[in-house]
Amino acid sequence: MKMNSLLILAGDGIGPEVMDEVLRVIEWLGDRRGIRFDVVEDLVGGAAYDVHGIPLHDDTLEKARKADAILLGAAGGPKYDNLEFGLKPERGLLKLRKELDLYANLRPAICFDALSGFSSLKPEIVSGLNIMIVRELTSGVYFGEPRGITPDNEGGRIGVNTQRYTTNEIRRVARTAFELARRRDNRVCSMEKANVMESGVLWREEVQWVGDNEFPDVELSHMYADAGGMQLVRWPKQFDVIVTDNLFGDMLSDVAAMLSGSLGMLPSASLGAPSADGCPKALYEPVHGSAPDIAGKGIANPCAAILSFAMALRYSFDRGDEADRIEVAVERTLSQGIRTADLLQVKGAKPASTRQVGDSVIGNLDESV
Ligand code: IPM
Ligand code: MN
Repeated sequence: MKMNSLLILAGDGIGPEVMDEVLRVIEWLGDRRGIRFDVVEDLVGGAAYDVHGIPLHDDTLEKARKADAILLGAAGGPKYDNLEFGLKPERGLLKLRKELDLYANLRPAICFDALSGFSSLKPEIVSGLNIMIVRELTSGVYFGEPRGITPDNEGGRIGVNTQRYTTNEIRRVARTAFELARRRDNRVCSMEKANVMESGVLWREEVQWVGDNEFPDVELSHMYADAGGMQLVRWPKQFDVIVTDNLFGDMLSDVAAMLSGSLGMLPSASLGAPSADGCPKALYEPVHGSAPDIAGKGIANPCAAILSFAMALRYSFDRGDEADRIEVAVERTLSQGIRTADLLQVKGAKPASTRQVGDSVIGNLDESV
């Protein structure tokens, strides 16, 4: 029998600490549920730069191409701030996304009941919240040419980036959003700035085309991205699936993260086109990043990384049942009050360590079988 293969790229900052807890959940699935993974570990970001002098080695990219799914921790850190642009840790992550053509980035913003008092917004605004942001991930201003910094003729400089989208790039990510909506509340809201950007006009027209021609059963609306940001904090429950471009999606998903209580709770999936066997190439990572200020202290919240692995079970391995089990175990841990410092409300209450949260999740998994 072919084993499921997983490439683990723990990366920088808190990446390795939170990934240790994910590895325990993977082991638990093998021991207790007979679902085994062939796990390969490698380097990305600053960790790769330290060893190879580049943030993503070609061998690692090859392993990523072969793996059924990739789990990534985080990339980046102040130690690498002065590196030239092309060598920065983040370039490793961007290269993985681009080379594997992982164009659809799924960022769910879910507010667990146990955390509804924790958001910076009022509990009634966020409790029961369940929205999905679909961010285009391999094009737009992140990759558009021309780009760069050049001298101008007044002794100053010009910084240039290009926002660029094609019909195909817009339609394929729109399809991902519509398909997800069909399995949820059947509503898609597309966000751009068609009032000031031609690429936004194209975005709006192409998303509408996909809706009219391929998903007439799904309710489609459009919003300018600035108004969308405002609506996300005013009344987020009006949304089901949001689809937007790379840069707006980066921003809006960080805004949405705070609705769920903490950036330490948010998983993500980056999916490519479905392959012959029906499974897309895919990379799963927590949204929180490397958090250098708390790295190495054993206090980071491992929930987002664990929930990212649950997304891998759902989208890459067709094990929605085990994904549900893990999500419930995480939710129990939170409601039992076992929380890292990012989720502690009461002054003087003792925060749990990364390991203690992992212990509790494993304990809750044990109880679920
Ligand atoms: C994210 C991050 C990345 C991005 C960085 C680390 C390159 O902020 O995944 O949201 O801007 O896409
Ligand atoms: Mn971001």
